[in-house]
Amino acid sequence: MMHDLVSVEQLTPAAVSHYVQLAQAFKQGAQIQLVHPAYAMNLFFENSTRTHTSFEMAERRLGIEVLSFVADTSSVTKGESLLDTLKTIQAIGVNIAVIRHSQNEYYQKLLQAQLDLSIVNAGDGSGQHPSQSLLDMLTIFEEFGHFADLRVAIVGDLAHSRVARSDAQLLHSLGAKLFFGGPPQWFLQDLAPLGTYVADVDQLLPQVDVLMLLRVQHERLSTATETNFQEEQYYQRYGLTPQRLALLPPQAIIMHPAPVNRGVEINSALVEAPQSRIFQQMHNGMYMRMAILAKILQSQQLLAAPQLEELIW
Ligand code: CP
Repeated sequence: MMHDLVSVEQLTPAAVSHYVQLAQAFKQGAQIQLVHPAYAMNLFFENSTRTHTSFEMAERRLGIEVLSFVADTSSVTKGESLLDTLKTIQAIGVNIAVIRHSQNEYYQKLLQAQLDLSIVNAGDGSGQHPSQSLLDMLTIFEEFGHFADLRVAIVGDLAHSRVARSDAQLLHSLGAKLFFGGPPQWFLQDLAPLGTYVADVDQLLPQVDVLMLLRVQHERLSTATETNFQEEQYYQRYGLTPQRLALLPPQAIIMHPAPVNRGVEINSALVEAPQSRIFQQMHNGMYMRMAILAKILQSQQLLAAPQLEELIW
């Protein structure tokens, strides 16, 4: 049976633990061998640096052949649907399709078609970003060694963020205590069952172990108030300033999925502060994506020994 990863809703706490252990094994140098050649295509219909590059690096490190795909020069521009594009690359022999798309839940139609290739969601609109969430869990686990009762604040553009949505769902399922901050109009009701909205960021910061800042997604701002967005005003009310950094407890870490709007969500110098794990998240991303791809290779019976269970404790 094909293995797909499209949403964090697929991930039990045991599955998260498995992915974290596997990513740590790859980080410590574990290697796998393929029994047959495997082919991946990364289909990015929205821009990306981190996710695209780290999936490609992970594919190459695992010995997967990477076929290039450029949305602007593909037959999608002639009106070919995403489903027909996937059927086409399946017919040509691609085993794994890593897809980023602006449409929420674009993957539902692809899953219903029961294609003979695996789908990895690299981000859908404001929906899900499961590989980012897993790399975030690896980063948090490396720091604290557990998730239960950790106090995590997710602050910023909650309305447009797939990272906020998928991280909040996953952290909640793992027993973390969640808080949300940022402009109140961006706190949508689907997040309310997962945690508490705190209007005053200064009151929130002294309580947290993890401060997760979100990028203001200028490309998704649409209403008149949103397009009138004032960066300086946002920074003063919700951004991580040097004064706010001093409010964090000594054990707290700062995360941000990036790209960062320096001087908007966070003071530019604090991106590299000792408490910041922003570049560590990117580093971990490559190993977590190796873990995700390795699980898929195993499900497609493309792995020779060692089987993945031998790599984890
Ligand atoms: N965090 C993240 O998804 O970054 P990219 O858009 O650069 O892939």
